[in-house]
Amino acid sequence: MCGIVGYTGSRKAAPLLLDSLKRLEYRGYDSAGVAIVDKKLRIHKDKGEIDNLRESMPNIPGVYGIAHTRWATHGQPTKDNAHPFADCKGEIAIIHNGIIENYLELKESLIKKGHKFRSETDTETFVHLLEENYTGDLESTFRKVLPMMKGSFAFAAVHSKEKGKIVVARKESPLVLGIGEGENFAASDISALLKETDRVIALHDNEMAVLTPESVEITTFEGKEVTRRPERIKWTVEDAERGGYEHFMLKEIFEQPQAVHNTLLGKVADFDVNRFGRDAFPSIKIVACGTSYHAALAGKYILEDIAKVPTEAQLASEYRYSTAAFGRPLVLLISQSGETTDTLGAAREARRRGRRSLAITNYVGSSITREADDVIYTRAGLEIGVAASKTFLTQLVSLYLLSIQLGLARRTLSFDESRKMKEELRLMPRAVQGVLDEHKKIQKIAKKYHKARDMFFLGRNVNYPIALEGALKMKEISYIHAEGYPAGELKHGPLALVGEKTPIVAVAIKDHTYEKMLGNIKEVSARSSPVIAIASEGDRDIEKYVDDVLYVPDVPAIFTPIPVTVVLQLLAYYAAKERGCSIDKPRHLAKSVTVE
Ligand code: M6R
Repeated sequence: MCGIVGYTGSRKAAPLLLDSLKRLEYRGYDSAGVAIVDKKLRIHKDKGEIDNLRESMPNIPGVYGIAHTRWATHGQPTKDNAHPFADCKGEIAIIHNGIIENYLELKESLIKKGHKFRSETDTETFVHLLEENYTGDLESTFRKVLPMMKGSFAFAAVHSKEKGKIVVARKESPLVLGIGEGENFAASDISALLKETDRVIALHDNEMAVLTPESVEITTFEGKEVTRRPERIKWTVEDAERGGYEHFMLKEIFEQPQAVHNTLLGKVADFDVNRFGRDAFPSIKIVACGTSYHAALAGKYILEDIAKVPTEAQLASEYRYSTAAFGRPLVLLISQSGETTDTLGAAREARRRGRRSLAITNYVGSSITREADDVIYTRAGLEIGVAASKTFLTQLVSLYLLSIQLGLARRTLSFDESRKMKEELRLMPRAVQGVLDEHKKIQKIAKKYHKARDMFFLGRNVNYPIALEGALKMKEISYIHAEGYPAGELKHGPLALVGEKTPIVAVAIKDHTYEKMLGNIKEVSARSSPVIAIASEGDRDIEKYVDDVLYVPDVPAIFTPIPVTVVLQLLAYYAAKERGCSIDKPRHLAKSVTVE
């Protein structure tokens, strides 16, 4: 995944492009570059983060250009492999997000025709193809060349002889256009444009656009005109800034009471649940990746407990290639970005199988909203930290709301029961705040254990996926090797690894599995592992069996994932901080994975 931006107008392009690019840094940060047309095409790139590029940047005048921040897929993260790439004559520059699958054969034939390649990337083939097929007009050249490209892409290009013009195209990689007064913009996502405009048009698959300072013309690859009105975006620049917090992740963790509150106010009710009544579908299959997959796994417990619908969770990368397609489940797709390639592939596969689909996403206008039959929006606001925090919690909230609505529609929940559950849900922002208020205690414990090399996270029932998520947070931001396990599985293998150097985080809240969890805790502490329990407020008894306890507010058992998640997020955050890690931009990771 990479970030791309483009600007054409009357202001100096370089500072504006760098500023917008900085807001996309979460999408990739191993190298970056800009191409600006001044009297001629000028390209400047550098290895590493955007600040490196800014520091080494010469003064380039010019009022239109493109810029890119990279997350390497083909070729090492070097300066040579950084975008933009120019053609042999140095007139055309392009940037790309995605993967060109047939680049090797294209490259071979271009080399035979005398083109000189300067990088190991798949992307560079595109600029040489544009040069080879140039008609004197970038737009028609795009139309000629795009059908030759196999794979996924969001491209942006400029030509030094076509003043003020940027041409962009999209297939399976995100691209939005920003509409200004006497200036226009393009970017991988809205966050890059918030400072400049609140009027945005999402480009769809197989569409391209030509931007000049005065106009934005959208067409399909075949040249059919597309008319689409700009949407007003409510997110503000402040949403995209740290607001006094040391890291975006910490800010986003502390925004959770508000995010949960907003999602509770959201309109799951807008989604016509009656179409999903008792006979609409026999079961649900939830499909997602990463953290969203953990929400999917928790969703299984939540939907089965509240709505009594048989539910399964499957990783999107597995679902899309699985050969077994039994029953006629509703396919529920969860993706905060709405742009994850595997989840989009799963959505298409669901359609191919004739399944009805429903998406839960945080991004209005994202690709998944067009792939799925229905959409529920989480209202987490913009999340910049690569590690998902508030978007996960709001996915859980959406799953609770959906379960209540489905329970009502399928008559497995009475009206009174549903009202009571909604009332309990409304108390969740307070429960989250309760955990945040205890952040100093969590920090102290993180400090105590931050030198661990390995950790286990144990949970049972609906808190088993939360243990998985706690382990994922810990490994991705602190680089401590962490495994999440259903506690009952411990003796079937992992117990061989426990010992005094392996702290265990055990979710031991008071539910019907509490006694079993106590048994598991005794097993590991008998083998000298230090145990940190996450327990229900008031449970003093547990202190006898563990080394440390972090309490969560007492909420109904099915809702405990909400406060427990917040404890685990903070534990990971503070451990990573003690270890001096790059919390918002963990090594090798990108915020949304738009390649397979
Ligand atoms: O945008 P999505 O929810 O589809 O992203 C899926 C995963 O890439 C994502 O949840 C990832 O695992 C998290 N950023 C990790 O914290």
